Amino acid sequence: MGNLPLLSFVMTLFLYSSFNISSAVDFLTPSQTLSDGNTLVSENGYFEMGFFSPGNPMNRYLGIWYKIIPIPTVIWVANREAPIKDLHGVLRINTTASEITLTQNDDLVVWSAKSLKPVENPRLQLLDSGNLVLKNGNSEVFLWESFDYPTDTLLPGMKLGWDYKTGLNRRLSAWKNWDDPSPGTLTMEMENHSYPEPAMWNGTQEFMRSGPWNGIRYSAKPFTAFPIFVFHYTKNKDEVYYSYQLINQSMIGRMVLNQSKFKREALLWSEAEKNWKVYASIPREYCDTYNFCGAFGSCNIESMPSCKCLKGFKPKVPERWNLMDYTEGCVRNRPLNCLDEVGFAKFVGMKLPDTKFSWVNESMRLDECREMCLRNCSCMAFANTDIRGSGSGCVIWVGELVDIPVILKGGQDLYVKVLASELETKKKSSLTIVVVLAAALIVAALLLVGFYVVRSRKQGKKLEVQEESMELPLYDLSTISHSTDNFSNSNKLGEGGFGAVFWGRLPNGQEIAVKRLSNQSRQGMDEFMNEVKLIAKLQHRNLVKLLGCCIQGEEKMLVYEYMPNNSLDSFIFDLAGRKLLDWSKRFNIICGIARGILYLHQDSRLRIIHRDLKPSNILLDTDMIPKISDFGMARTFGGDQIEGNTKRVVGTYGYMAPEYAINGQFSIKSDVFSFGVLVLEIISGEKNKGFHRSNHALNLIGHVWRLWKEGRPLEFIDTSITNLYAPSEVLRCIHISLLCLQKHPEDRPTMSNVVLMLSSDGALVQPKQPGLYVEGDSLEARSFSNENEFLTTNELTITHLEAR
Ligand SMILES: *[C@@H]1O[C@H](CO)[C@@H](O)[C@H](O)[C@H]1NC(C)=O
Ligand SMILES: *[C@@H]1O[C@H](CO)[C@@H](O)[C@H](O)[C@H]1NC(C)=O
Ligand SMILES: *[C@@H]1O[C@H](CO)[C@@H](O)[C@H](O)[C@H]1NC(C)=O
Ligand SMILES: *[C@@H]1O[C@H](CO)[C@@H](O)[C@H](O)[C@H]1NC(C)=O
Ligand SMILES: *[C@@H]1O[C@H](CO)[C@@H](O)[C@H](O)[C@H]1NC(C)=O
Ligand SMILES: *[C@@H]1O[C@H](CO)[C@@H](O)[C@H](O)[C@H]1NC(C)=O
Ligand SMILES: *[C@@H]1O[C@H](CO)[C@@H](O)[C@H](O)[C@H]1NC(C)=O
Repeated sequence: MGNLPLLSFVMTLFLYSSFNISSAVDFLTPSQTLSDGNTLVSENGYFEMGFFSPGNPMNRYLGIWYKIIPIPTVIWVANREAPIKDLHGVLRINTTASEITLTQNDDLVVWSAKSLKPVENPRLQLLDSGNLVLKNGNSEVFLWESFDYPTDTLLPGMKLGWDYKTGLNRRLSAWKNWDDPSPGTLTMEMENHSYPEPAMWNGTQEFMRSGPWNGIRYSAKPFTAFPIFVFHYTKNKDEVYYSYQLINQSMIGRMVLNQSKFKREALLWSEAEKNWKVYASIPREYCDTYNFCGAFGSCNIESMPSCKCLKGFKPKVPERWNLMDYTEGCVRNRPLNCLDEVGFAKFVGMKLPDTKFSWVNESMRLDECREMCLRNCSCMAFANTDIRGSGSGCVIWVGELVDIPVILKGGQDLYVKVLASELETKKKSSLTIVVVLAAALIVAALLLVGFYVVRSRKQGKKLEVQEESMELPLYDLSTISHSTDNFSNSNKLGEGGFGAVFWGRLPNGQEIAVKRLSNQSRQGMDEFMNEVKLIAKLQHRNLVKLLGCCIQGEEKMLVYEYMPNNSLDSFIFDLAGRKLLDWSKRFNIICGIARGILYLHQDSRLRIIHRDLKPSNILLDTDMIPKISDFGMARTFGGDQIEGNTKRVVGTYGYMAPEYAINGQFSIKSDVFSFGVLVLEIISGEKNKGFHRSNHALNLIGHVWRLWKEGRPLEFIDTSITNLYAPSEVLRCIHISLLCLQKHPEDRPTMSNVVLMLSSDGALVQPKQPGLYVEGDSLEARSFSNENEFLTTNELTITHLEAR
C-alpha cells in the first residue's frame, strides 16, 4: 500500500517525461518550446527539466530533477501552486514581454517569470548546477535564474537570504505533501535584522533559529571536526545570505525542508546503496525548539530537568515551571533598577539569544562592548560577534533574552547582566564551599591514613566498613529459590565467569537477575559480606545495580536489577540485533561504558579493576543505556590483590592485555586495553577472538591497524550500519581504541583521558603498533597463542594460568 504512490510517481515521471529521446539539448531559444513529454538535459547530464506528476497524473508540473541518479528527486518546481490540468503544458520565452511563460492550452498562463532587463536573442538554459537561467545569447549575466526562487531544496551554491538591491528574499518552503508541491507551513529564511540569522518557521510561528554566524559557524551548530557540508555566510551592503558547499565536489548532496518530518535535512547520495542518506537534520532535539524554556531560561539536553533559569533569575510562575510548563520563562530574583550596581555573569557554550532585539558593532572589542552594556540600562547581555582568535566584534541585547540553549560541543560565551550583589554572594558562597571542601579533604586524608594503618596492622582481616547506615537487603534462600522457580534451567539467563545467572520475580513483582556464585572464593563469610556491601555502594548510571545478596550455608548469591534487553553481545554479534544499533546508539554505548569504567577506576571510593570487560558483561537497559556488570567480582573472587601480579588470571581470551595474559600483571591500564577491544567490536560487529579474513592472518586488532596504516579506517565499520553516520566520530573512536590497545601499559591513556577524548575534539597523539597484533612470527604473538590452546577450550571466563 505505502509503496503504491511512490511507484506511480516513478511511473508517471518516466512514462510522460522521459520517453522523448530526441531532445538531448540543454537550452531553449524563443523559436523553440518545451512541451509536455520533452525535456532539457544539462550539458553533462546532471539535471533534467520537464513535466511530471507527483501524485494525481492529471496534475502536471514543470520541474527539475537529478538526471544522474536513478531515484526521481525533484529539486525545483515552477508552477508549484498552479498545476496544469492536461498534457498540453508548454514552456516558452516571450521576447516581446521579456518573460518565460508556462501555458496550458496555449493561452492560459499558469506561471511566468519576468526578466530583470529586456531580452535580446535570449536563451533559457539548464546548467549542471541545477540552475535554470535566462540570458542573452552566450552572456554570463543571468537575467533570471531559478536559484533565486527556490522551492524546498537548497543545492550547493544556492543562496538563502536577501538581495537588498532588488528586495528579493530567497527562502525555502516545504512541499505541502509528497504529492502536492504547493508551499506547506514549514519555511526557512534569513531573518533580516542587525545581526541576521537563518531561522525556520511553522506558518507565522518561529520554530527554530540557527543562531547568528560567529565567524566560524552558526551559533547553534555543534563543532564538527571533519565536516562534509561547509557553510558560508555573506553580509555586505548589497546582500546577506547563507550558502553551503560539499567538501568533496564529486559527492551529491542537497538540503531540503521536509514537512512531514518537520525537519530540515541534509542528504547525501550513496552510490553504493543507490539511496539518499540523512547526513544531518535539524531540529536535533527539543532544546533546539525556539524559546523552549521561555525568556531567560536555558535548555540543556543533558540535565534533568532540561530547563534552568539563568543565574540571577527564577521561574516566573514556579507552580507551572515545576510542572514542566516553561512558557512563562524566568524573571530576575530582584528587578533591576537603573541605579543598581551591576556586573556580568559569564555563561559558556551557549547559543546566542534571539538576535531580533540586538545591536551590533563589528569593530568593537569585548571590553568596549562590556562598557557599552554597563552604561545602557536596557542592555541585558553582550557577546562577541566573531569568536575567531581571541574574539572580536560586539553584540548587545536589549529586552528579554530568548532561546539560549546550551550547545554541546560548540556554543560560545555570553555575558548576562546581573546585580553585583548576586555575583558577590556567589563568590562568597563558593569561597565557603572551597573552605569546607578543603577541610573535608584534610579530614578524609587523615581518615584514609588511619584506615590504612589499621588495615595494614590487621593484615588480611576484615575490611572496615564505613557508612554503616547503608543497608544491603539480605534475601533468604527460600524467597530467591521460589522466585527463580528453584533455579530451573528455563530461568537460566546464562553462565558467567563467577557462576550461573537466573531470572526471577520477587513476590512484590520486581524482576531480578540472581547470580549464583560458584564456590571459588576462599574468603570467609564476613569478608564476603563486607566486600559486597562496599560494592553495593558503587552506584552509577552505567553500572548494573546490586539490589542485595543471599547467603546461606555454602550458597552465596547476588541479586541484581534485571535488564530486559540482554547484553551487548546479543546485539553486536547478531545478524538481526546489529541492525538495531545505528551509529549514534553505538557511540552512546561506547561513551557510557567509558564513563562506567572511569567511575570504577577513579570516581568511586574503591578503586576497582574490572579485569573481565567484554560485550557479554555489558547489559543494556530499555533505553539502550549500557550497564557494566560483574564489577567487583574480580576483587572479591579473583585474587588477593588489587594491583600488581596475580597467580590467577581472571578474564577472557581476546580481551586481556598482553602483560596480563602472559605475566599476570594487571592494573587499570589492562582494563583500558579490554575497553579498546570492546570499542573495536562495537564498531565492526566482529569478535576479536575468532576473527579471520581469508586474505590475511591478522586478528581484529591487526586488521584495524592495517586499515589504519593504509588510510582507509572507515572500511572497518560494520556494514549493517546503514544510517548515515559522522565519519569523524567513527574515526575518533577507532583512533582512541588504538591508543587503548598500545602494547605498553604506560602508552595507554587513562579512562579519564578516554572520556575526555570522546567528548572533545582536541588533537590526539598518533598510535603506535598495538599489542597482541598477531602477525607472522612475533614472539609475543606466538607465546600467547600457545597458551590460547587451553584458554579457548571453553567460554568460561575464569582461567587459571601459572605465572612464570
Ligand atoms: C507575449 O507577451 C505579450 C505581452 O504580454 C502578449 O501580448 C503576447 O501575446 C505574448 N506572446 C506569446 C507568443 O504568448
Ligand atoms: C533588511 O535590513 C536592512 C538593515 O537592517 C534594512 O535596511 C532593509 O530595509 C531590510 N530589508 C527588507 C527587505 O526588509
Ligand atoms: C505548526 O503549527 C500548527 C498550527 O499552529 C500546529 O498545530 C502544529 O502543531 C505546529 N507544528 C509543530 C511541529 O510545531
Ligand atoms: C570524493 O567523492 C567521490 C565519490 O563519492 C570519491 O570517489 C572520492 O574518493 C572522494 N574524494 C575524496 C578526496 O574524498
Ligand atoms: C520527507 O520524509 C518522508 C518520510 O521519511 C519521506 O518519505 C519524504 O520523501 C521526505 N520528503 C522530502 C521532500 O524529502
Ligand atoms: C563601532 O565602534 C567603533 C570602535 O569603538 C567606533 O569607532 C564606531 O563609531 C562604532 N560604530 C557605530 C556605528 O557605532
Ligand atoms: C540602549 O541601546 C539600545 C540599542 O542600541 C538603544 O536603542 C537605546 O537607545 C540605548 N539606551 C540608552 C539609554 O542609551
